[in-house]
Amino acid sequence: MLTADFTLIHARELVCITSTPTDSKPWRGSDLSSLGIISDGALAARGGRIIWVGRTDELTRHVQPTSNPTEIDATGRVVTPGLVDAHTHPVFPAARADEFALRAAGKTYQEIAQAGGGIANSVSRTHSASTPDLERLARQVADRMLAGGTTTAEAKSGYGLNRDDELRMLRVIRSINEHHAIEWVPTAMPAHEVPAEFRSNPDLYVTLVMEEILPAIAAAGLAEFNDVFCEAGVFNRSQSQQIQTRARELGFGLKFHADELSDQGGAELAAAMGAISADHLVYISESGIAAMAKSETIAVMLPGTAYYLDLPRRPPVRRMIESGLAVALATDCNPGSNMTESMPLAMNQACVLYKMSPAEALVAATWNAACAIGRADRIGALAPGRQCDLVVWAVGDHRELAYHYGVNLAVAVIKKGRVVRS
Ligand code: NIG
Ligand code: FE
Repeated sequence: MLTADFTLIHARELVCITSTPTDSKPWRGSDLSSLGIISDGALAARGGRIIWVGRTDELTRHVQPTSNPTEIDATGRVVTPGLVDAHTHPVFPAARADEFALRAAGKTYQEIAQAGGGIANSVSRTHSASTPDLERLARQVADRMLAGGTTTAEAKSGYGLNRDDELRMLRVIRSINEHHAIEWVPTAMPAHEVPAEFRSNPDLYVTLVMEEILPAIAAAGLAEFNDVFCEAGVFNRSQSQQIQTRARELGFGLKFHADELSDQGGAELAAAMGAISADHLVYISESGIAAMAKSETIAVMLPGTAYYLDLPRRPPVRRMIESGLAVALATDCNPGSNMTESMPLAMNQACVLYKMSPAEALVAATWNAACAIGRADRIGALAPGRQCDLVVWAVGDHRELAYHYGVNLAVAVIKKGRVVRS
């Protein structure tokens, strides 16, 4: 008999994704819609870890409760793993609603950036923001993520662009991990933009990133991954490769903002360098698809950004899935190109804009997203041995999670066996 301090019963659909605790690879091709649904499902956990999953009528044969357990009756509801947001920029000093208004009036993201707005806008405000202010605002982002069912998110620096402010941003991310129920997986991104003072000689900044900023972040142990914005007018392919070669030497896993606004061969570079993910990929080429299909690099799709920037192209996501790429979803939550914390919205956008099925969107927002941030051993699925991170939704059919949008359908959010939102 197992002893549980947390039980959940009568889920109309308990979406487990995998029942094998040791699975560690993302789902590809037709497996991308494998949800592993148990009807009238039940789950038991102890000390924040799942110990049993099955049908409700079998629970009492396997599990007995401790004296004061948390008990959830999910009658009529869908229960899924906690959503995983595989790409966010959640630490920023101020909103950029002025730029949003300019875009509504017809300006493009690049035009605004060239006029001194965009990432540079957030960078100069980060320099003058106090750390308590950055923390307070980051906590608000974390609250909104959790309220919408996101229990883990990757979180990038990248509005500091100098050693001290990049370190400061990553310390804010660490402080969220220490004081908030959400988990943020830290990614360094000093190569998010070329700072204004290096515009006349970007290679000097590339050297600074390689010789000063990344070594300082590595020495402080503040990030697991390093990300580079490989884009025309930002970091070209060769600069991106130099930076990531150094990042790999320093022990970081690699992520890329690849082929977001134009085809730069970013997908090919990410695959060749063994990156854990290549993100955006709106302009991925045929050779990029072929290179990623043969690699372990996961394609993190951010349909919200393409929507928010009203990009004229849609990435060939169906062809990517059919070619065998592992596809994950994320919001890209940031104050410029997609101001939302909502993963259910990203799932809706993936279905509407990219023609993913609701089941594919759910796997891409849980299991494949966990794989894309190096957490396949812990989260993204409901199986014994995994962390008890889950969401109870106010719907009875998993397809409704992507179908009904613009409202929050999360009824209860559980992180490590504790109810953190209800
Ligand atoms: O992922 N592409 C670069 N970075 C962000 C935008 C950040 C910003 O505008 O502040 C993105 O879209
Ligand atoms: Fe991004």
